[in-house]
Amino acid sequence: MAGPVRIAVLRERASGETRVSATPETVKKFIALGAVVAVEPGAGLAASIADADYAAAGASVSDGALTGADIVLGVQGPELAALSGAHDGAWIVAGLDPFGNRARVAAYAEQGFEALAMEFMPRITRAQSMDILSSQSNLAGYKAVIDAAGVYGRAFPMMMTAAGTVSAAKAFVMGVGVAGLQAIATARRLGAQVSATDVRSATREQIQSLGAKPIFVESVAGIEGEGAGGYATEMSEEYQRAQAELVSGHIAKQDIVITTALIPGRAAPRLISDAQIATMKPGSVIFDLAVAQGGNVEGSVADQVVERHGVKIMGWSNTPARLPADASALFSRNLYNFLSAFWDKEAGRPVLDAEIGDAVRLTRGGQVVHPRLLG
Ligand code: NAI
Repeated sequence: MAGPVRIAVLRERASGETRVSATPETVKKFIALGAVVAVEPGAGLAASIADADYAAAGASVSDGALTGADIVLGVQGPELAALSGAHDGAWIVAGLDPFGNRARVAAYAEQGFEALAMEFMPRITRAQSMDILSSQSNLAGYKAVIDAAGVYGRAFPMMMTAAGTVSAAKAFVMGVGVAGLQAIATARRLGAQVSATDVRSATREQIQSLGAKPIFVESVAGIEGEGAGGYATEMSEEYQRAQAELVSGHIAKQDIVITTALIPGRAAPRLISDAQIATMKPGSVIFDLAVAQGGNVEGSVADQVVERHGVKIMGWSNTPARLPADASALFSRNLYNFLSAFWDKEAGRPVLDAEIGDAVRLTRGGQVVHPRLLG
């Protein structure tokens, strides 16, 4: 390849997307590595980053940002039309939603692009700083509690006032991965009494260490330790029945419920039924962080606050996008940490190794190559 590697930063086209995949900070760092960076006009506006800030960091800002690009950075996977001008074989580095967008992935292959899906980053220690799922889930867990508090008609902390005592809210977090841990911590900071549950036994101690009460199915074994790769699998019917019973007893006493349960490659597990919602106190709030993956809560609708039996049920289709500045800053660093870790000084560009490269690479040489997308 002749000349320095050219990195292009997309303006996101997806509706409701407010994030951007590079910040002036990461632009500067890419330039320090020897890259040339071009940014599409307005790319950072929704995240409070002006075109002039990118220019001051050393990027060119123009409609032709994609021209001759070797590496294209995005938050969400771009449509092909947004990529015109990029080099043959250019890398598309973004959250590509590979299972939800198979046709688009095939189109990347046809165009000769090398698509790298950042959500497929392996969960190994050296890749932690490159993990967009973690950085965005953490913020989503925080924002879920804040937004639930926003529609809750009462306060979170206990307050003793001259006019009487306000009692602390009771919050229950279901699913204690990255988002759930941050939800517990946030609800605690706001003064709620917090309890939490998961199917993976390793989370029990994590819940306790954050000062919350673990609520676990005891009669049927859950998943030992962290689970494979840190992930849950679908539970047996027996477990699901025991969990439903446990939740029924607990949920009626809760004011705020935050659900975050996901199973990779599957629809989100249903954790709360309409009949269980009916047992909750009017004015309670349920925030379903899994609403975009099918929902943990019966009746939850993305981007709406639905009222059932006097209980408000809510959830956003893109929660991190509601914290554009922080979500962009962390997402951008994930991409920089990824590309810079593999920077080959001689080649003047990143050269991936097999462990991480093969995990994230969807297409190469005109073909879809990722095993999870084949067969
Ligand atoms: P996730 O978003 O896939 O799922 C959220 C949580 O829901 C998980 O804790 C899961 O066990 C739970 N869940 C699934 N089905 C459930 C059910 N029926 N009832 C209750 N809970 C249910 O998980 P996330 O946030 O991606 O984290 C998964 C794990 O990966 C964690 O152990 C985390 O510490 C680990 N991790 C490791 C990283 C690394 O080493 N690079 C980076 C990020 C996370």
